[in-house]
Amino acid sequence: MAKFDLIILNSKVVTASDISTCCIGIKSGKIRTLVDEFTADELQGVEVIDAEGAYVMPGGVDAHVHLCQDLKTGPHGLGGECADNFETGSRSAVAGGTTTMITFATQTRAEEDRSLLSVVEAYNARAEATGSYADYGFHIIIVRNDADVLENELPILMKDWGISSCKLFLTYETQKMTDSQLLDVMFAARKNLITTMVHAENGDMIRWLTDKLESKGMVAPYYHALSRPPLVEAEATNRAIALAHLIQNPILFVHVGSALGAASVRKAQTMGLPIYAETCPQYFHLTWNDLKRFHSPTCFENSKMICSPPPPPDASDQEDLFTGLQNGTFTIYSSDHCPFRYDHPNGKPSGVLEHKPSMEGEKHCHGDELQDLLKRKKGSFKLIPNGIPGVETRLPLLYTGALATGRITPQKFVELTSTNPAKLYGLYPTKGTIMPGSDADLVIWHPDTEFTPFRLTNSMLHHNVDYTPYEGTEFVNWPKYTILRGNIVWANGKLQGKPGDGKYLKRGPSQLSRSFSKTSVDPRYVASWLYE
Ligand code: URP
Ligand code: ZN
Ligand code: ZN
Ligand code: ZN
Repeated sequence: MAKFDLIILNSKVVTASDISTCCIGIKSGKIRTLVDEFTADELQGVEVIDAEGAYVMPGGVDAHVHLCQDLKTGPHGLGGECADNFETGSRSAVAGGTTTMITFATQTRAEEDRSLLSVVEAYNARAEATGSYADYGFHIIIVRNDADVLENELPILMKDWGISSCKLFLTYETQKMTDSQLLDVMFAARKNLITTMVHAENGDMIRWLTDKLESKGMVAPYYHALSRPPLVEAEATNRAIALAHLIQNPILFVHVGSALGAASVRKAQTMGLPIYAETCPQYFHLTWNDLKRFHSPTCFENSKMICSPPPPPDASDQEDLFTGLQNGTFTIYSSDHCPFRYDHPNGKPSGVLEHKPSMEGEKHCHGDELQDLLKRKKGSFKLIPNGIPGVETRLPLLYTGALATGRITPQKFVELTSTNPAKLYGLYPTKGTIMPGSDADLVIWHPDTEFTPFRLTNSMLHHNVDYTPYEGTEFVNWPKYTILRGNIVWANGKLQGKPGDGKYLKRGPSQLSRSFSKTSVDPRYVASWLYE
């Protein structure tokens, strides 16, 4: 019997701390050994990949992916069904080097959604219905503070499902909670060692600005950004930090998109608080200007770029965000893949809200036509579902924009895209690194010198979305192989895996935070008696 199932030669193996030139031996889905070379005997009859000296990294862990979800992401609680299910979303993930996704099971305010366990069971059925090309776990989105549910069900979610993270909202009318409701859930989460993720935007500021913009007829997609300037994120970030501090709860801010938001996070980290932050590709590759990129500033095709928080105002904000990537303000880099189609699913544009244009009767409304629709109050940025696709382009965009340009080291790349998300969400070291005993989840890049840069078109991607915000963007590398637990699932531009290869991952508590410990409660700021 061969000692290995798969051998990778001539690798430049990158972990969050090291780069080493070596070869990798894989057996039964696990990394078995890292060695200088294998003997002829060991190579006999074993499948071999020659990495040709290119980077070999742990498979991407994308900790923020929306699949099979009814997304209520419009500022007024509007939204629609995700365009990607587990099959199409995970297919796109592995084609871009990601082997693990954490997706969102979502509670709604409806009485029948009180039980988080039922929400998770229903969501799991959606995943099982198609199967997944990549491994996956679930976060739970909590929008109600039912004391009995939090007390009885969070322990079961952790123990039986391995769900060790929840997401809470400070915006979206149908999801946001008051400060005391947020404290209820954070406190319950902390007691169960569940990490709290926070969507930090001040919903009242957004609503007020939206009304003002609408009253002036400023309703084109561009004005979505003006309805949520960076202060909207900064205020909510500061408030959530204060709430978390009060009960010494570790939190992660999802999709931080502004320099002001990042500065609030940095300040809290400097105080020693267990505050973590995620950022996403859109905040480095898009700015407010992209919200008026198509045809004319008022054209509703610009709705393709709408996400919340919006992209930063300009390149100077992006510079600050790059600094945050380098100096550790940002713990993880996720896609926030949130897939809506631009074309109506039935091929006919309409005013219904499950697709991007949300402008009755028209996809390309501008000039007189737009003015006419506006007079009839048929269109507004506030009706457009928020979110953009990006699970497949996440790693190649960071490679192109930050690694190849020397802004971050290869080790930092691995830390942000794989190691830290695995640690933060309790998957390490099974996921997130390359060492004996870890799952053999790998992404092998092309040797830089042998790759001809290309411009992306949506037809190259594997999601079920009919556009990419990165159409025309030049890429300087792309994963040549993606390997999931020792199986080659993507090779030389072709899918080799199948839905069903991926398995559900039960996760443990966060491995980044020491601060769940009661001894770290600081009585000067914190209600320490809560823990007596
Ligand atoms: O615009 C965004 N980010 N949509 C996805 C939903 C969310 O809030 O993460
Ligand atoms: Zn969010
Ligand atoms: Zn999201
Ligand atoms: Zn147009």
